[in-house]
Amino acid sequence: MRKRILTGITTTGTPHIGNYLGAIKPALELVGPDNDSYFFLADYHALIKQPDSKEIEKSVKNVALAWLSSGLDPEQSYFYRQSDIPEVHELTWILNCSAAKGLLNRAHGYKSIVADNSQSNSDDDKGINMGLFSYPVLMAADILLFNATHVPVGPDQAQHMEMTRDIAGKFNHTYSNILTLPETIIQNKISVPGNDGRKMSKSYNNIIPFLSTEKALQESIAKIITNSLEPGEPKDTENCALFQLYSFFGTKDQIRSMEQAYKDGISWGDAKKELFLVINKEILPIREKYLELNDQPNLLNDLFSDGARKVRPQAQELVKKLREAAGISKIV
Ligand code: TRP
Repeated sequence: MRKRILTGITTTGTPHIGNYLGAIKPALELVGPDNDSYFFLADYHALIKQPDSKEIEKSVKNVALAWLSSGLDPEQSYFYRQSDIPEVHELTWILNCSAAKGLLNRAHGYKSIVADNSQSNSDDDKGINMGLFSYPVLMAADILLFNATHVPVGPDQAQHMEMTRDIAGKFNHTYSNILTLPETIIQNKISVPGNDGRKMSKSYNNIIPFLSTEKALQESIAKIITNSLEPGEPKDTENCALFQLYSFFGTKDQIRSMEQAYKDGISWGDAKKELFLVINKEILPIREKYLELNDQPNLLNDLFSDGARKVRPQAQELVKKLREAAGISKIV
């Protein structure tokens, strides 16, 4: 059977090398002539956590350009913005009526804030909006609306995928077998270190930028924390952020020679130069594409309206079936 791959990208922040390696690259590798693929910008999900409209706008643009520059081809995949598909909300409501509140009480994002609140003796629901609470239902609607069969997500989304299946199963059981229960493809198993050795994350301020200038890339690599071993002293590849990053980008042969160079006591300065070369080799065409796309002001708006025009009829067809099943269509 033809696979239908679908994934959403929350539009908060600007993508970094960790996002590229953990999410963008592996998702784009699933695109092929034997699959249908759907990639969308989950901007309604972004509203839950980001009240700054300028930040949302900036992130939508950067995330879209990152995916397009990395090789997402809108002729080969459906590429759209969640907020351009109003049917998502019709489905969200229908699914809300199949989603047990108790199920959503167990969603880890919600649960961990409740736990923090109770630790600090605050009201359980302090700081929690209904968007956060019903986040998994909106996500289920994104997926079920297009009969996705395979959904690539990070490990933190596995629970939401189970909820999607649960809610769809409940609907199918109550009415009729319309919704497709999707399989989860867990990605992002790799842990990409930032330039301080901890997991790369914007909140740690340790990211290696992706859509930046060559100079910014160089500066960020220069900051990678190493140790005080002098040139000529053998160095350990274990637990070395610099070496780990090198192994994400180097070829097998390059990685092997770098291992040898560590044993032979390569200087940290030279190792950083080598790391810059392998990262830049992969990033250069992406950066050039990004600069080219970034110069075309209407490109994204055109792509988004094109994407919505292509997928909305599919969404409308599904919603029509669901309304009929639930008894809210034409009176006969
Ligand atoms: N919640 C996902 C994340 O944070 C993003 C997302 C929204 C998504 N809707 C989706 C992923 C539908 C897959 C399918 O990563």
